[in-house]
Amino acid sequence: MMEATARSIEPRPVAAKAPELTLVIPTLNERENIAPLLERLDLALAGTRWEVIFVDDDSKDGTPDVVREIARTDPRVRCLQRIGRRGLSTACIEGMLASAAPYVGVMDADLQHDEALLPRMLATLKHEPYDIVVGSRYTAGGGVGEWDATRAGISSLATRLSRMICKTEIADPMSGFFMLRREVFENSVRDLSGQGFKILLDILASSPDTPRLKELPFQFRTRRYGESKLDTMVAWEFGMLLADKLVGHLVPVRFALFAAIGALGVVVDLIVLWAALAAHSGFITAQTVATLVAMTSNFFLNNLFTYRDQRLKGARLLRGLVSFYVICSVGAVANVGFAAFVYSGETHILSGIAGIPWLASIAGVVVGSVWNYAVSSVFTWKAR
Ligand code: GDD
Ligand code: MN
Repeated sequence: MMEATARSIEPRPVAAKAPELTLVIPTLNERENIAPLLERLDLALAGTRWEVIFVDDDSKDGTPDVVREIARTDPRVRCLQRIGRRGLSTACIEGMLASAAPYVGVMDADLQHDEALLPRMLATLKHEPYDIVVGSRYTAGGGVGEWDATRAGISSLATRLSRMICKTEIADPMSGFFMLRREVFENSVRDLSGQGFKILLDILASSPDTPRLKELPFQFRTRRYGESKLDTMVAWEFGMLLADKLVGHLVPVRFALFAAIGALGVVVDLIVLWAALAAHSGFITAQTVATLVAMTSNFFLNNLFTYRDQRLKGARLLRGLVSFYVICSVGAVANVGFAAFVYSGETHILSGIAGIPWLASIAGVVVGSVWNYAVSSVFTWKAR
């Protein structure tokens, strides 16, 4: 047994030496940047055994074809094309998982990151006691180039928020340009949230021990081809990542959002009920309309915020709405049933609050909400 294992890990003779550095480069519609980037990498990394994995989320502009075209003559280049997926962080994670090199770097495809820094990043990891080297815009010598005041302001606020969840002192936790020893990545990979744009922040917040980190300054360049993918969705995902790392161990962030929207639904319900009664409808009609309106608004709010990353559209939206009605109706029955059960005192569960209407009612609401959340997360917004 022992011998077999020992023999199997003995290195086999190989034609070419394996790379010591893998660059993982996420791409979404970057076709014009690929060739110039590879030219620059070739120059900057002369003398290093490197490879590059482009992780493409099915760009519509033909980026993966451009990469594969080059890959046919350059074995250092590979394309990992993902279908039906989106997300900068998960793209980086999967790219890193596809590499075996002892050192792994992450950089953008759009030439905004200074490739001339790569050899120093690698040398730092190889010869100095650091686990992660970060290309930093916010240490002396670094900079953000031609940003307007608004973008600079937003970035600086987000940076300050991010520092709260990092285990390490860092000037630029939002940088998308860094290199690390692969063990550091492997040690944290199962705890990564994978949400959104901030893969470095995710690693720094999830690593079981404090990584030894060094920042090297660089000037963030201005994009020449293509456009930025930073949008409100990215901002929302950033908020979810922060919340998850701050309170996620207490209550899942999605459930907190779902519950807050549910609470808002009660307010909606009461307003509609009041309006309907004022318009002289009978109580049953008024209550039915109020409940329907509240369920509908809850559905759309959850679709807009709680499940922003897997938002339903078109025919799926209608299907989702119907399933949400059905699930919430069962939830309402469970709510009332459980509240009545607790109120009656026929049970040992929560017997302390038997006979107290408002506490029994809250118990019912909790049971109903958990049901609605759990079941709708499986049937209404099933992750694709
Ligand atoms: N595979 C994949 N999937 N790649 C993506 C996605 C995605 O959903 N979204 C963006 N990318 C790729 C882009 O093609 C580009 O190569 C890189 O990720 C960065 O995207 P940009 O749209 O250029 O981002 P940015 O310049 O606004 O933001 C950069 O700076 C931020 C700091 O201000 C990135 O480096 C961020 O990580 C960084 O936080
Ligand atoms: Mn960019």
